[in-house]
Amino acid sequence: MERLQKYLSNCGVASRRKSEELIKEGRVSVNGKVIDELGYKIDTNDAVCVDGVNVNREEKVYYLLYKPEKVISTVKDDKGRTTVIDLIDTKEKIFPVGRLDYDTSGLLLLTNDGDLTNLLTHPSHNIEKVYYAKLNGIIKSSDIKELEKGVIIDGVKTKKAYAKIKKIDKKNNKSYVEIVITEGRYHQVKNMFLSVGYEVIKLKRTNYAFLDLTNLKIGEYRKLTPKEVKKLYSLK
Ligand code: URA
Repeated sequence: MERLQKYLSNCGVASRRKSEELIKEGRVSVNGKVIDELGYKIDTNDAVCVDGVNVNREEKVYYLLYKPEKVISTVKDDKGRTTVIDLIDTKEKIFPVGRLDYDTSGLLLLTNDGDLTNLLTHPSHNIEKVYYAKLNGIIKSSDIKELEKGVIIDGVKTKKAYAKIKKIDKKNNKSYVEIVITEGRYHQVKNMFLSVGYEVIKLKRTNYAFLDLTNLKIGEYRKLTPKEVKKLYSLK
């Protein structure tokens, strides 16, 4: 016996949260009957459908992509832009673990494992993400300190961060800063720098937990090793 939303996320239909929405919207049926309650439990022999399409358990797959700029971090795009899914050759129904902005490059995980996605994206898990940002202007050390202590974005203070000036280009009035954050709020890094007066003009995520972009060129990807998957599961 397994909860319906867990089954759906295990099948790679969507994350656990998204699967709950599908159920509440009345889009899920079990043995031909619409189930719109979250506590419903299913058996191995039950036939589960989403929007009338049969859902089966899939083999779990895990990819690490070096996302280029001008690629959208969604499964589909109604404006016809290239999505991160388009870059990966797989038959499995994968989805990105969190998001990178359209104009942000760097490390993005993709999987059909809803449990791992929930675990990694849950705010309480504090997964470290490292970004390399090119800024307009010459950043002051006092602003770096502000960022590290936490700045107010949309009325909420950001968690403690670490930031380091990597390069100052006085001639072109640009700064290069590495910043480590544990949250994943919308446009977080850009908004953090904006809050202390700098516009991010280029952004790249270089690390996600213990993972980095070693041996990958922009647009390339690789499968995670079973050991890496196990290690991601053990991050708490
Ligand atoms: N912060 C941003 O502002 N953009 C990203 O893509 C990721 C983190």
